[in-house]
Amino acid sequence: MEEGNFDSDVLPTEERYHLGISTYRSTYEKSLSSPEEFWREASSILDWNRPWEKLLDDSNPPFYRWFTGGKLNVSYNAVDRHVRSSRRNKAAYIWVAENGDEKIVTYDGLYRRVNNLANAMKNLGISKGDRILIYLPMIIEAPVAMLAAARIGAVFSFVFAGFGSAALADRIEDSKARMVITADGGFRNGKIVELKKTVDEAVERTSSVRNVIVVRHTGHEIPFDDGRDVWYHEVVPNSMNFVEPEVMDSNDPLFILYTSGTTGKPKGVVHSTGGYSVWVANTMKWAFNPDENDRWWCAADIGWITGHSYIVFAPLILGLTSILYEGSIVYPAPDRLWEIVERYRVNILYTSPTAIRTLMRFGEKYPAMHDLSTLSVLGSVGEPINPAAWKWYYQKIGGGKCPIVDTYWQTETGGFVIAPALGLGLPPLKPGSATFPMPGIDPVILDENGKEVPSGQKGYIAYRKPWPGMFMTLNNDPERFKETYFSRFPGMYYCGDYAVRDSEGYYWLLGRADEVLKVSGHRLGTVEIEDALISFDGVVEAAVFGKPDPVKGESIVAFIVVRPELHSDTEGVAKIRLHVRENLGPIYVPDEVHIVASLPKTRSGKIMRRVVKAVALGDMPGDISTLESSASVDEIRAAIEEFKKQDV
Ligand code: PRX
Repeated sequence: MEEGNFDSDVLPTEERYHLGISTYRSTYEKSLSSPEEFWREASSILDWNRPWEKLLDDSNPPFYRWFTGGKLNVSYNAVDRHVRSSRRNKAAYIWVAENGDEKIVTYDGLYRRVNNLANAMKNLGISKGDRILIYLPMIIEAPVAMLAAARIGAVFSFVFAGFGSAALADRIEDSKARMVITADGGFRNGKIVELKKTVDEAVERTSSVRNVIVVRHTGHEIPFDDGRDVWYHEVVPNSMNFVEPEVMDSNDPLFILYTSGTTGKPKGVVHSTGGYSVWVANTMKWAFNPDENDRWWCAADIGWITGHSYIVFAPLILGLTSILYEGSIVYPAPDRLWEIVERYRVNILYTSPTAIRTLMRFGEKYPAMHDLSTLSVLGSVGEPINPAAWKWYYQKIGGGKCPIVDTYWQTETGGFVIAPALGLGLPPLKPGSATFPMPGIDPVILDENGKEVPSGQKGYIAYRKPWPGMFMTLNNDPERFKETYFSRFPGMYYCGDYAVRDSEGYYWLLGRADEVLKVSGHRLGTVEIEDALISFDGVVEAAVFGKPDPVKGESIVAFIVVRPELHSDTEGVAKIRLHVRENLGPIYVPDEVHIVASLPKTRSGKIMRRVVKAVALGDMPGDISTLESSASVDEIRAAIEEFKKQDV
């Protein structure tokens, strides 16, 4: 991240976006000073079966409960009410396959699909409160499965279809899922990704799953267990089977989404029905100000929070048309993304800094091949966007006329917490700053001791107040919820990021302050990767850290200690990498694996990851007075020297 001078570089944006920052300011102030009135209006974005009685129940902090007494169903809000309106025949999704196939699903078509799957799930014994797991590629059945679960009150956990079998098994185990909805496979870079096979391996290690519903997508041969597996097309007919939406409490959980933290065990972030839905729909409106007929493309994967909130729930609640793309944005050619923008006349494009930097590397020639003039707003998410990428996106893609909406948020926050509020009066933008907090968000930047730092100084970003989209708890682990997020700065929510607030009040997010990596925008835990490495027979110890990378943000570097037999195995490192790939998934595979005889440790035997990283990156290792022996430090230096020689 180029930190630079935080006050400079204000870029002009088009006149029509200057609704006047004063609208934003008054809305923001009202959200904090008159929350009751503010949220009464904002929550009317949904249809409620019964209106809520109390805005916020904070009697048991940090377990905040929003809109208590309120009853609603999210699938009704996302689908049924549009079917009863003039949006009935409007496209909800334009699905685009990697090979160029397309399918348009209207709100009416979505309604039929959701009802039919909900009916099939019920017939297979799933009912309100049960947990189901979804492991699907970017196909229509993915949002359909999420909505069908929400319709019958089942809590779903969607696992990104790039996860390996051990990661999937952990999530099945923790969520106690009774059903898995998957596909035979998915497509990526012209190849088939095995999904059913991975599900079989994961389900074998667990005991809760009774049925697996399988979508036939790739059509390749897969193993089938007749007692457990059912084909989607056999249980989901084309005719219409209406299922009455279950009336849910505002604080019934909607889904559990697993994310990485500082320990090896992923955290099951639980989101609510009412608060979450109110939050995502409003934040999308505030930040992006979409038009009824805009075509919205959030180019994330549905398996991450970005996809949950802004491919599925927010755009559907608002009745918009989304592009749903299955495949790589640079396959079969580096202009794939631009070609889709042109062909489908996308108006708002929302992607990650890594994607922007990847496309930027291919050069201007590729976007120049396409008519991108339909674009009116560009969004960014997942990691800090460096000013160079911001400017390229702004100038070369948006032609200097599209505001860049850099949205800062987390799995835990449900939706945007800091982002330019285009719908409330866009401030002048500064490349690399996510600008100002969303209404209802009260951030503060603190030092080590919890004291607020002056503007311009880097610190930890925390939040003084809860907001409706904030997660409710961690599945099976309320103690960890309290400990991880609310103990570092008592009374405040803290989740691991550095930030600076400049003298004009703009926020600049500066990356993680903990042991969590951001690799191509994916949130990965160093300890998770270390655990996967040492689960390979022959690897004794491991230390993993992130190395700055010009495209991916960070790359994964591992230093490992192995038993002698692995030393002599020339395929050893390849086998270890494959092991990580199969267990956790390809995004977790270290870019560099260095074998050393020992790792720096404290006298009590704890591996000093901080020292490994500093030495490997050629930085000062800091205080190493507790180091047990310095030989390991020399070894790391030698391994890096050797690597550099091979690399040239
Ligand atoms: O470090 C921040 C970074 O991504 C983390 C959250 O990751 P995850 O829960 O996977 O959610 C990603 C999608 C919202 C944060 O703690 N992050 C996310 N968006 C930004 C960001 N860092 C800087 N600028 C952003 N716009």
